[in-house]
Formats: sequence, structure tokens, C-alpha cells
Amino acid sequence: MSTPETFYEQVGGEATFRTIVARFYQEVAEDELLRPLYPEEDLSGAEERLRLFLMQYWGGPQTYSEQRGHPRLRMRHAPFKIGLAERDAWLRCMRIALDEVELTTEQRDRLWRYFEMAAHSMVNSWF
Ligand code: HEM
Repeated sequence: MSTPETFYEQVGGEATFRTIVARFYQEVAEDELLRPLYPEEDLSGAEERLRLFLMQYWGGPQTYSEQRGHPRLRMRHAPFKIGLAERDAWLRCMRIALDEVELTTEQRDRLWRYFEMAAHSMVNSWF
């Protein structure tokens, strides 16, 4: 009996997450609110970390945790001031990335609901 496909596999595996995250960071690079938050001049490290995290989250290889340990995403975002405007800017970039990749409506909605929830949970500045 074959094991059921993970969501990671259903959406096309690593290639799909690579496409989404690369497009997302193209937008971040041009975003006046988000770009200054990223400590490194080169965004490729941040791009790789987000890609590996998402692959792991959706049932793909656990490489993120092998390299970085437990995600603890709220803690890792604590050094950055993330208010509602930053959350909305992050989601704007992700919306563009999601809309361009080939997915079914159900798959896109599932990813989007997750991103909305996750981005909101990263807000750490309310003033
Ligand atoms: C790292 C900003 C939401 C996942 C980072 C970094 C910044 C940042 C500045 C450091 C870059 C680096 O790793 O070099 C933001 C902002 C958000 C947001 C402004 C707005 C709400 C999210 C969400 C997720 C996420 C929703 C997951 C779905 C990650 C991951 C890392 C990261 C996996 C790397 C953590 C590590 O291993 O060090 N983010 N982020 N972020 N972010 Fe976000």
C-alpha cells in the first residue's frame, strides 16, 4: 500500500516552494517597509530559510530543523518590529507570489489561510 501524498507533494514539492519564496523575496527587496528589517544585504539566506521552513511545515524534508533547530518563529521574529503595517506588507508580497504559481483554488486557499494566520501571529508591536 502506498502512503498518502503530503500536501507538500500534492502542490509539486520543492520546485513549487522555491518559486513562491523566490517571487516573495523579489517583492520584499522592493518594499520600503520590509526591506530595512532584513539585517543582511543579501536576501538569499533569508530566502533559503523561509523555503526550507515551508517545505518542512507542509510535510516535506525536515532540513530546516536539521539546520536551525526548533522553528520558534515568534521568538526568532522578536528582534524585528512587526506591526500591522509590516504584517500587511508581508502578506501583500506573499499574495503576489501565490497568485503567480500554478495551484488549484483549494490549494491556494489553504496556503493563503495559513499565511494570514501565521503573519498575524508574528505581530509583536501594537503601537
Ligand atoms: C526570518 C520578517 C512573517 C518565516 C525573518 C527575518 C525577518 C522577517 C526580518 C530575518 C531574516 C533572516 O532570516 O535573515 C518578517 C515579517 C513578517 C514575517 C516583517 C510579517 C508578519 C513570517 C511568517 C513566516 C516567517 C508568516 C512563516 C510562515 C520566517 C522564517 C525565518 C524568518 C522561517 C528564518 C528564521 C530562522 O531560521 O532564523 N522574518 N517575517 N516569517 N521568517 Fe519572517
